[in-house]
Amino acid sequence: MLLRRIDHVGYAVENLEEAIRHHERLYGAEVAHRETMDRDGVREALIAVGDSFLQLLEPIRDDSPVAKFLERNGGPGVHHVGYGVQDVDAALRDLKGQGVRVVDEVPRHGSRGCMVAFLHPKAALGVLVELVEDPALAHSATDTIHDA
Ligand code: CO
Repeated sequence: MLLRRIDHVGYAVENLEEAIRHHERLYGAEVAHRETMDRDGVREALIAVGDSFLQLLEPIRDDSPVAKFLERNGGPGVHHVGYGVQDVDAALRDLKGQGVRVVDEVPRHGSRGCMVAFLHPKAALGVLVELVEDPALAHSATDTIHDA
């Protein structure tokens, strides 16, 4: 199985602070991490749920994909699902080899120091899928130790 875990569920929101307060009020949630991703035109807050996260995404530019989603969707909603993989480069090559349509031809930097790659929703049952390699989880028991 290529997918190791559900890394995060990404929400598009119009107001990040309001969305955080919503999760605090309803679930007693706490923010685990904040980051601004200039390339994607978003600022985000991560709320830890067990080993996974809710990723709240607020656009910082009108041309951000999240801004376009909010407009198309008529408001906030689930924007994408992030699946944890062992090796995002290998996973992406595997899927492309099967003819799967992708958004990112090569992995790129995501938040939390992860390497990520998006698949096209048309190739993933209408869901925008993000493959996530988390360096914090990279050294599993199956990894070999390399000599210098
Ligand atoms: Co994401």
